[in-house]
Amino acid sequence: MNRYAFFIVVFVSLALVTIVTSQQSSPRHCYRFTWLGPDYNNGSVYLNATCNDVTKLSDKEPCMEPLVVSMDGTWPNVSYIWDNHKEQATCVLGDSEYCAQYTFYFNGTPLNSTYMCTKALTSNNTVVSPGCYTQTIGSFKKRVCLCVPIAGGMPCNRANPTSAATLFTMGLVTTAAILFLNKNL
Ligand SMILES: *[C@@H]1O[C@H](CO)[C@@H](O)[C@H](O)[C@H]1NC(C)=O
Ligand SMILES: *[C@@H]1O[C@H](CO)[C@@H](O)[C@H](O)[C@H]1NC(C)=O
Ligand SMILES: *[C@@H]1O[C@H](CO)[C@@H](O)[C@H](O)[C@H]1NC(C)=O
Ligand SMILES: *[C@@H]1O[C@H](CO)[C@@H](O)[C@H](O)[C@H]1NC(C)=O
Ligand SMILES: *[C@@H]1O[C@H](CO)[C@@H](O)[C@H](O)[C@H]1NC(C)=O
Repeated sequence: MNRYAFFIVVFVSLALVTIVTSQQSSPRHCYRFTWLGPDYNNGSVYLNATCNDVTKLSDKEPCMEPLVVSMDGTWPNVSYIWDNHKEQATCVLGDSEYCAQYTFYFNGTPLNSTYMCTKALTSNNTVVSPGCYTQTIGSFKKRVCLCVPIAGGMPCNRANPTSAATLFTMGLVTTAAILFLNKNL
């Protein structure tokens, strides 16, 4: 047996154990806020608006404070929110919860979007799998995306899901490399 290969395997295994352990002890976060949409920008009058104000007391539609508006009405920079407003605009994922993002569209243009931690059950109390689900009513579209965040990392409920997919692929590649090394011992 090749000694050198043995030490590489031991080292990689220890590194993996460290990663897995630190992931279990650090909480998973989701974004939690509502982006009010392109009709609001730095020129809007806010009057300390609450969810009740913007949803006109219809508690059927999701809304989560804080309410977020971007300077120019474009989608807010969620990395900026993570870096600067983690305390106010994220939640810690509970047992059997997902990060969720509800987005309303009109003719394909986003109207508003709500990010939250939530349990996802069907009306029959069965668990919904992660992924995106779309409901279309005329020109309106409501899209819900559910995902599981990586512990200690950035929340996964953001507009661009590629990083999570990349990390998953990296995990698989690492595992494959270890299996390969083991086979050659
Ligand atoms: C709003 O932000 C834009 C830049 O995005 C800036 O040019 C404009 O002066 C700002 N308006 C107000 C009222 O602050
Ligand atoms: C918003 O709330 C703050 C603190 O509660 C208060 O000082 C301020 O006057 C309010 N602004 C408006 C426009 O109601
Ligand atoms: C988002 O837009 C939909 C459709 O216009 C509306 O019913 C809902 O109240 C809005 N939600 C928020 C939080 O603004
Ligand atoms: C978004 O925010 C991050 C972190 O604050 C910053 O590095 C990045 O340049 C911002 N992206 C845009 C498009 O402004
Ligand atoms: C709930 O269960 C009923 C009967 O088993 C089935 O017809 C229905 O499609 C289910 N609904 C959902 C949302 O899964």
